[in-house]
Amino acid sequence: MSVNFRLPGPTPLPPQVTAALSREMIPHRGPAFRSLYSDTLALAREVHRTSGEVLTWAATGSAGWEVAVVNLLSPGDAVLAAVNGHFGERFARVGSRFGLDVRRLDADWGDAVLPDHLRTALDHHPDVKAVFLVHNETSTGVTNPLRELAAVVRDHGALAVVDAVSSAAALPVEVDNWGIDFVMSGSQKAWMCPPGLLIVAAGERAWAAHERSTFPRFFWDMTEARNSARQGMTPTTPPLSLIFAFQAALGMILEEGIENVWNRHHRLAAMTREGIAAAGLQLFARTGYESDTVTAFIPPVDVAATDLLAMLRRDYGVEAQGGQAHLADRIIRVGHMGWVHEPEMRQAVSAIANACSRLAENGRVEDEGRVSLGTPGRVTA
Ligand SMILES: Cc1ncc(COP(=O)(O)O)c(C=O)c1O
Repeated sequence: MSVNFRLPGPTPLPPQVTAALSREMIPHRGPAFRSLYSDTLALAREVHRTSGEVLTWAATGSAGWEVAVVNLLSPGDAVLAAVNGHFGERFARVGSRFGLDVRRLDADWGDAVLPDHLRTALDHHPDVKAVFLVHNETSTGVTNPLRELAAVVRDHGALAVVDAVSSAAALPVEVDNWGIDFVMSGSQKAWMCPPGLLIVAAGERAWAAHERSTFPRFFWDMTEARNSARQGMTPTTPPLSLIFAFQAALGMILEEGIENVWNRHHRLAAMTREGIAAAGLQLFARTGYESDTVTAFIPPVDVAATDLLAMLRRDYGVEAQGGQAHLADRIIRVGHMGWVHEPEMRQAVSAIANACSRLAENGRVEDEGRVSLGTPGRVTA
């Protein structure tokens, strides 16, 4: 049975990417690398829709939070963290660890961060220098309305610092048009690459804030990365295979057309949600804010999330994922980002519907058994 890999990251690798990954090493200080890296960054700028700087580091997405903090802010700076899930929570925690004065705007997990709420929060906290936003909350399958949120942040004069780990290259993210100051993502999501490459786009206001920032930094220093990138280089040994892979993936994305890529994700997500709802399952995300890269749903009553995940894997070859933190046993998450097309999603949705109805049926049979044995009157009757 072939595996239908439906995690919300890492995601399946297209053949072009696996081929790139098997390339031999090249001298990382020679002309071939310079040309490869310059080309890769130019393609990445196109996908981010920015004429500003795009930089990479050998790291996973979480490092992007730290890159933002140590490059754009200084100890004691006030920031506002918009939190409606596990990743927003972590972003806020990174700020606190570095001694920022972190104020919070919380929304329920499963709900979205709304522009009006953000405006009110900023009115209450006029001193915040940056707002931490998670575009797509992978933990709940919610997409926050980034364009509108970024506009509110800009009106206020703060920096819009965005985690786009599970949205970049799948959902519209227009860095320049939307006035986003800093956006980061990780290679293992819609970029269709293995984990290990952090991608950051920074605009002019971010560079101005960087000039004022007093945090110590070495590996994550944006100036070092920019100076090297301008010569087609990285300050330390680059993760060559990941950059080969990233270049191949960017080529595929631009060949399909970034808007077509966004539309494909939109279509597949709608299809997934319809199929899941048609199976009588409840979607977790607030209506209107459901993510086009990951769908979260609540398993039927009496069906344990772990049993459902195990059956999907064993009987249908579908690798999905449970929830995180307090949602660990309460929701199932199905990824549809990156290298994904209709047949995989049809199979996944039909597997979910079948597995849920089989497990619910088993549950009923077991329940009936328990009731008849466990009711004293009946046992003695
Ligand atoms: C929205 C979001 N932010 C940050 C991260 C952390 O990325 P990583 O696990 O690559 O460090 C993830 C990972 O799933 C994520 O989905």
